[in-house]
Amino acid sequence: MTAPLHPPTTVDSTQFPPNGADTDAAAALTTGPATAFLRFDDLSKSYQEGDRTRVVLQNAHAEFARGEFVAILGRSGSGKSTLLNLISGIDRIDSGRIWLDGQDLTALDDRQRTLFRRRNIGFIFQFFNLIPTLTVLENVTLPLELNGVPQREARSRAEPLLDAVGLLDRTATFPDRLSGGEQQRVAIARALVHDPLLVLADEPTGNLDEETGQQTLALLDRLTRQAGKNLIMVTHSVEAAGYADRVLVLREGQLMKREA
Ligand SMILES: Nc1ncnc2c1ncn2[C@@H]1O[C@H](COP(=O)(O)OP(=O)(O)OP(=O)(O)O)[C@@H](O)[C@H]1O
Ligand SMILES: [Mg+2]
Repeated sequence: MTAPLHPPTTVDSTQFPPNGADTDAAAALTTGPATAFLRFDDLSKSYQEGDRTRVVLQNAHAEFARGEFVAILGRSGSGKSTLLNLISGIDRIDSGRIWLDGQDLTALDDRQRTLFRRRNIGFIFQFFNLIPTLTVLENVTLPLELNGVPQREARSRAEPLLDAVGLLDRTATFPDRLSGGEQQRVAIARALVHDPLLVLADEPTGNLDEETGQQTLALLDRLTRQAGKNLIMVTHSVEAAGYADRVLVLREGQLMKREA
């Protein structure tokens, strides 16, 4: 059983003046009302296919407290990956607002969104998405390199995380020599290494056997909590969602509370 979340808060658009396009992403972010750490207001997203409009999100609303691990359950095609792409700024919303740490992400232009994502979002994907031509260590230091962190410092930040995921002895190995579970552990280290505001996981156990999936989730849960990070995990697995503090359901374009 599901029930709609409380109705969306009315947002006065005059509170959100447009930003200058040429300013740095961090400086350009509009500061909003300090409420939830992360908040979606009236998120809508449709895709146009020929003369058909496919509505994926329709005035979706949700709030997340700092440090929460929230799972979002939804069947295939319900819009889970779309939602993560909107939060991370890979894709653009049609209307609505996304507030992260008091900042309006929807006010950013494409370049600012890219910079913001690089600095503040960690990603974990179903198919790991490691770069095959880079070693384990190089994969983990890549987010730091993209943010201009010197190599030596990047290495000293990556190594404790590789130790924490049990792969410090595999730093020079290439991803194709690793098992799926090991690859996902590299991806967990990569998602945390640049100290992001938010970790997003898209079906992180979808390509792992049950036991490895459980171990991987337990590790992800422990490390994101230790780091004090918010984790949003989208999945169709009720078992995987069991690790979260709270579970929402994505259905018919809306985020709903999941009832026991
Ligand atoms: N770029 C696009 N153009 C057109 N339609 C799209 C596009 N991206 C996604 N869609 C459609 O939006 C809907 C939601 O897709 P999405 O990938 O978010 O689902 P999902 O919940 O992640 O599914 P799965 O569990 O299979 O990964 C689907 O009907 C999909 O076909
Ligand atoms: Mg998906």
